[in-house]
Amino acid sequence: MAVTNEDRMACGVHLSEDLKSVVIVDQRQLPNRTVHLTLNTVSEIYDAIKTLAVRGAPAIGICAGYGMYVLAREKSDLDSQAFVRAMEKDAETLISSRPTAVNLSWAVKRMLARIMENRDRPVPEIVAQLAREATAIHDEDILMCTRISEYGLSLLKAGDGIITHCNAGPLATSKYGTAIGPMILAKERGIELKVFADETRPLLQGARLTSYELEKAGVDVTLICDNMASMVLKSGQVQFAFVGCDRIAANGDFANKIGTSGLAILCKYYNVPFYTLGPSSTIDMSCKSGDDIEIELRDPAEIKTMWYKDPMALPETKCFNPAFDVTDHHLLTGIITDRGIVYPPFDVNLKKLFG
Ligand code: MRU
Repeated sequence: MAVTNEDRMACGVHLSEDLKSVVIVDQRQLPNRTVHLTLNTVSEIYDAIKTLAVRGAPAIGICAGYGMYVLAREKSDLDSQAFVRAMEKDAETLISSRPTAVNLSWAVKRMLARIMENRDRPVPEIVAQLAREATAIHDEDILMCTRISEYGLSLLKAGDGIITHCNAGPLATSKYGTAIGPMILAKERGIELKVFADETRPLLQGARLTSYELEKAGVDVTLICDNMASMVLKSGQVQFAFVGCDRIAANGDFANKIGTSGLAILCKYYNVPFYTLGPSSTIDMSCKSGDDIEIELRDPAEIKTMWYKDPMALPETKCFNPAFDVTDHHLLTGIITDRGIVYPPFDVNLKKLFG
């Protein structure tokens, strides 16, 4: 399958037609408004990632890849030493915006590697290389999501119920998405499934984004609060759990949106197979186990005030707001990747495919 410019422009993150900006759908405003933002400067790109205007591990990688190109383009007049120094500084800034999803640093380092390999060439030539590299990152994600969706769909049959957490759909990636890709692909092929979407406290990605994307695709989706998952699993309506991932360690432990590990424990109890779906760019073989994954801590305002007319807790009440948790690989049935479905022992089988 060849990726066309039309495919790229249909994604929640793409390059503007004049090549000067990164264009994103502002995910903070969905599902009520579809607003596009045009990002030109390093602080605009940093803020968009930090504040979750663009979010989802692959999407922030794509945004950072295009971002590095847009920032390089602006520096075409610099001599090569000054260019390299300035790009290293921008790379550091972008990487510091969010620590947990490996796709961000992976994409920025990939762009930086192109710069370093070509540092003796004229700057405009390096910039042209960066345009190709950023587009390759995007195109690869479109293809990887398509393959992941096919592998995921191969496990499902008409009438199955699937529970998902957070948002790992097209907005968080490119075409189809990862965890909800199989559901969108199933609908395209006339296979009816029933999806339960956890609302995903505190930032409601399941309510605002997953149920929005599935409704738009015509997939039967039922929104539940996170604390209803146990009851739904017990009812027998769910045959599979499919969730995304932000970083998969070499032993199969993986970080994903806070609440994922709790859902995995519930699935173990109710004998519901639990899969994470992620592209090669989310697999970090340099990370031995989940203990090595840095977990982002976010502003307490997201819990206490952000969604409410009046605060829902006293100003002095302490909050703990980790954005992600790590699911132990013992709770995982399999990892659905673009290179196939990986089953235990994960350390051995991940190494075979990604070592
Ligand atoms: O904080 P977020 O919304 O960026 O967290 C996103 C997730 O946890 C997703 O499940 C993950 O990035 C996978 S997206 C394909």
